[in-house]
Amino acid sequence: MIDHKEFQKKFGICYRSQIMKEMVEVVHQVAPTDITVLIYGESGVGKELVARAIHGLSPRANKKMLSVNCGAIPEGLIESELFGHQRGAFTGAVESRKGYFELADGGTLFLDEIGELPLSLQVKFLRVLETKEILRLGAETVIKVDVRFITATNKDLAVEVAKKRFREDLYYRLRTVTIEIPPLRKRKEDIPILVDKFLEDFCERNKIPKLEVAQETYDYLMEYSWPGNVRELKNAVESAAALNKTGILKIEDFEKYLKPITLDNKERNLPIFLNKPADVADREFIYRALFEIKKDLMDIKEALLNRHHKVEEIIPETENLAIVSVRDQEKEAIKNALIQANFDKKKAAEILGISLRTLYRKLKEFQMG
Ligand SMILES: Nc1ncnc2c1ncn2[C@@H]1O[C@H](COP(=O)(O)OP(=O)(O)OP(=O)(O)O)[C@@H](O)[C@H]1O
Ligand SMILES: [Mg+2]
Repeated sequence: MIDHKEFQKKFGICYRSQIMKEMVEVVHQVAPTDITVLIYGESGVGKELVARAIHGLSPRANKKMLSVNCGAIPEGLIESELFGHQRGAFTGAVESRKGYFELADGGTLFLDEIGELPLSLQVKFLRVLETKEILRLGAETVIKVDVRFITATNKDLAVEVAKKRFREDLYYRLRTVTIEIPPLRKRKEDIPILVDKFLEDFCERNKIPKLEVAQETYDYLMEYSWPGNVRELKNAVESAAALNKTGILKIEDFEKYLKPITLDNKERNLPIFLNKPADVADREFIYRALFEIKKDLMDIKEALLNRHHKVEEIIPETENLAIVSVRDQEKEAIKNALIQANFDKKKAAEILGISLRTLYRKLKEFQMG
């Protein structure tokens, strides 16, 4: 029998739902082996946390687990990052270097967003899985490595295979042991205990007295759909706690952080809050419109300035308009894009018109991960 209390405490994973208990049972089953595991789940469901638990319950627990995000490494570098290289293997390779496969020797290597591994490397990775041998870039002899692999994806790899973006053979190899972490909206009974944990951690970290949560707040949070899953819940709790003045977290403390749920969002069968979102959406719309007007004014001003010199008479004063720094605008745009894309980073990058890797860099820079 699994001691769920003990497990939760040891790995900081909170749950109460049956579906999570079953998932944790599978974790216990696969952990002691060396078998490659694929963790599947939407963004923010806790894939990395579960990977750490698998490692922590394995015989490799006293060795390290390295975590590599395949989507975050520039494509041109990923092979040498994983496999390492010999001196002179390419321009700039002034020294030989170990890659992650070698660095994780004896321990566990967590390959996050495995769906982002370039096709050319997928075949090489498959070979590593099969032979546990690697060849550094520019090297002639293979090196044996003793690594346990845990991979994770928030994409349905079967779809990626169908679109010819993921190799079928690697897919079959990886999916043998798949652990699926359900999205938060499918295990709402976990929400109150997660709220309590995040609140307690936050108060402790910031040395502030413990805040209370009104019962109606729990009910409200349980109704929301959490497209960004546990990570979104954590952020919401921390933001609400940071700005709370009454000592009790109420619905109002959360409303401004949560994405308004629109009526046409049927796809997930979401509950709909009819009391608030409309005015939140209105406000956002007005801000955006004001921003657009301001931009138009500046454009007109600039255009006129180039032709005449007496612009001030025609154009109203714009000095008092709030200027938002480029950095803040970027942050805001990223936040909005993530919300719009239901926290699918690839989609968000598309909305923003930047590459996924640039988005990762920005998320790291702004500490938004
Ligand atoms: N069951 C849980 N109990 C406590 N904290 C959790 C739980 N699940 C997730 N978290 C927290 O939520 C955040 C997101 O978790 P994690 O990074 O493991 O998600 P992920 O699935 O790897 O996300 P991504 O797909 O974006 O990489 C982390 O701060 C993690 O500690
Ligand atoms: Mg992750």
